[in-house]
Amino acid sequence: MSRRFLFLLGSSRRDGNTELLARRAAEQLPEDVEQRWISLAEHPLPDFEDRRHGTGAARPEHENSVLLREATLAATDLVIASPLYWYSVTTPTKRYLDHWSAWLRTPGVDFRAAMAGRTLWGVTALATEAPVAGPLIGTLNHSAAYMGMRFGGVLLGNGSKPGDVLDDSEALARAKTFFAQEAPLARFPSGE
Ligand SMILES: Cc1cc2nc3c(=O)[nH]c(=O)nc-3n(C[C@H](O)[C@H](O)[C@H](O)COP(=O)(O)O)c2cc1C
Repeated sequence: MSRRFLFLLGSSRRDGNTELLARRAAEQLPEDVEQRWISLAEHPLPDFEDRRHGTGAARPEHENSVLLREATLAATDLVIASPLYWYSVTTPTKRYLDHWSAWLRTPGVDFRAAMAGRTLWGVTALATEAPVAGPLIGTLNHSAAYMGMRFGGVLLGNGSKPGDVLDDSEALARAKTFFAQEAPLARFPSGE
């Protein structure tokens, strides 16, 4: 099956370090691999409302929710490109993940079964060189495990102001082979 990568940009600014790093990694993808790039800031989702256990009438789905769900379902490889904000993903990224909970219950869409076996990847820029991205990595790994997805890990790069990550030569080197790595089925820490 030919691969289709969906890059979801989670920064609250354009042309930031995370996107620069993700584009460096994407440059290495073979030409027959389709790439689609969507900025979550430019396609804002409404705040997630937990209606899982309510009895109220269904609401029409927001157009960006439909767009993002369909783009997600069309991808063989989903790349969450979110900078590190307070040790975790950004708000637009978290909101996107929260909407998975709605999509898991969308009639006619077997979201979990459809996502099982596909691959989740992460790309993130952070200001500090200290190893503090654990919450973000855990969020992505555990979400992939919950969905029965593969997890390719998180490509990390350092930088504060836009462009800084281009000085992180180790990150740029890792970007060259990042998407060529094996992506095993994601597991929770308990081994499940
Ligand atoms: C709201 C906010 C929270 C941040 N939290 C962290 C953090 O927890 N750890 C860190 O190293 N850098 C943190 N940073 C710095 C960003 O991760 C860094 O500037 C990164 O390069 C931004 O990525 P971008 O250029 O793709 O937007 C934070 C920045 C903002 C605006």
